[in-house]
Amino acid sequence: MYVKPIRNIVILTGAGVSAESGIDTFRSEGGLWEQHRVEDVATPEAFARDPDLVLRFYDMRREAIQTKQPNAAHEALARLDREWPGGLLIVTQNVDDLHERAGSSRILHMHGEHLLAWCTACDMRSPWTATLIERPPCPACGESALRPDVVWFGEMPYRMDEITAALRGCDLFVSIGTSGAVYPAAGFVRQARDLGARTLELNLEPSKGSAWFNESRFGPATKVVTGWVEELLNR
Ligand code: OAD
Repeated sequence: MYVKPIRNIVILTGAGVSAESGIDTFRSEGGLWEQHRVEDVATPEAFARDPDLVLRFYDMRREAIQTKQPNAAHEALARLDREWPGGLLIVTQNVDDLHERAGSSRILHMHGEHLLAWCTACDMRSPWTATLIERPPCPACGESALRPDVVWFGEMPYRMDEITAALRGCDLFVSIGTSGAVYPAAGFVRQARDLGARTLELNLEPSKGSAWFNESRFGPATKVVTGWVEELLNR
């Protein structure tokens, strides 16, 4: 079988890549949604119904991520980003900033970012490390209409056009530390595969879409991601 040489890579990351930095995943036992029902904290309806609960939940998450550090998997991906001569895009579902802090630059956040606040009055995004529960004014327009810049269930993920274009042009699609439970990200493997890319899964355990991957390697991200990056750069 003819296998295309690898030039363009798209990497999808999920909560599993940050797990060893001490950030809870969503669907593990004791994970983020376990103490809260998703529909109570991560939907526009929840925000309309009980804004204090939602703002407090995200204030706690925002505070928590600022105490965490990138791990060896983030660092390996940052090294790949620096050294890979071809096309590369890291599409993360994570709202933490650990990829950036590790040094990745070819990255986009399809589910938003904890460290941005979005003003629903003027549409401005502002860097934000403090809390939102006190309804602080928007730095741009002064209205008290800030919300976390995080995509909630029922909202469109960000930058889908760029992601679709990258999937179209990629020779290798790699999924790291994601359960494959949330669409549209869970469908990227099939899109990439249908368009002729090879597909690789790096995860602690088989994800829901495991059967769609040409190859799967199971283990903690700090081991399997570092091993794969080393192998790819030394081919
Ligand atoms: P999940 O919590 O659904 O899945 C995390 C995956 O990481 C699981 O398959 C775990 O087996 C794996 N995992 C755990 N620890 C790992 C480790 N040390 N190394 C490698 N893999 C590990 O998280 P996501 O798939 O990222 O969306 O969740 C997707 C989306 O669901 C999130 O972005 C969020 C959530 O609802 C929004 O908030 C819109």
